[in-house]
Amino acid sequence: MILYFSATGNSEFIALEMARELNDESLNLLKRIKENDYSPINSDKPFIIVCPIYVCEPPVFLVKYLMNVKLTGNKNIYFTFTSGGYAGIAAHYGKKIARKQKMKYMGRAEFKMPRNYIASNAYALLEEDEILNRLKNTKIKLNDVISYIKNGNKLKGRHIWLFEYIVTIPFVPIWSKLKFKTKPFYYLDSCIGCGKCQNVCPLNRIKLNDLKKPVWDLENCTHCMACISNCPKEAIEYGEISLGKYRYKLKNYIGKID
Ligand SMILES: Cc1cc2nc3c(=O)[nH]c(=O)nc-3n(C[C@H](O)[C@H](O)[C@H](O)COP(=O)(O)O)c2cc1C
Repeated sequence: MILYFSATGNSEFIALEMARELNDESLNLLKRIKENDYSPINSDKPFIIVCPIYVCEPPVFLVKYLMNVKLTGNKNIYFTFTSGGYAGIAAHYGKKIARKQKMKYMGRAEFKMPRNYIASNAYALLEEDEILNRLKNTKIKLNDVISYIKNGNKLKGRHIWLFEYIVTIPFVPIWSKLKFKTKPFYYLDSCIGCGKCQNVCPLNRIKLNDLKKPVWDLENCTHCMACISNCPKEAIEYGEISLGKYRYKLKNYIGKID
């Protein structure tokens, strides 16, 4: 069973390809997370978790979910992380989840995929050539990863150095608190009130007002980019930072890599 979360499509692409090639089921965890649905998930085949990296770690809300939902059946668990190039100490959380679930940690694969973060100027979005290049490489690497899993082998990841833990563990909560603000989000007149932004928000930080326009909670969110990138009218902005930037969504490139 492939369990995944994906805000802009990279992780979903991997999850669905894996499900197809491994003749397995996939389950998008978005609805369960939104609804606080912790009913058990059973699988006869190994569990495979697929998710993006947010600031050198898997999403905090997803780690919390996977630590607490009951996974039953098969006792092996794999992890697959998609990032813009640096998955940091994500494997540490994979091992933590495996321990909590009393499952066997079967290793992790890391995929360097297109960047999607437009709420900061520090991480530039990529040119189309580089996006296509990364997606092609992803497809090649995915074949290898799938054959490892098919054969019941462990996945081998790079060594994580001590300094990475020392820097990341205290840094991430501080950075997230300072940066993951919701206040700068706003909608433009072109908003059609479809409510998609509300539906894709894993943390339920968006409500619709009487005109069916989005209103963000003032509590920090996770900056996953689901609302801003999936708006069908590109009618969401983040202060001045997102102005003029394209919205990354994997599905815009899928026809170009076959
Ligand atoms: C809030 C946020 C933080 C991110 N932090 C990192 C990071 O630390 N390292 C990295 O390589 N990519 C980082 N990224 C890029 C994403 O991990 C990457 O684009 C991922 O494949 C997106 O997956 P998705 O399309 O399934 O949502 C970040 C993206 C977001 C939105």
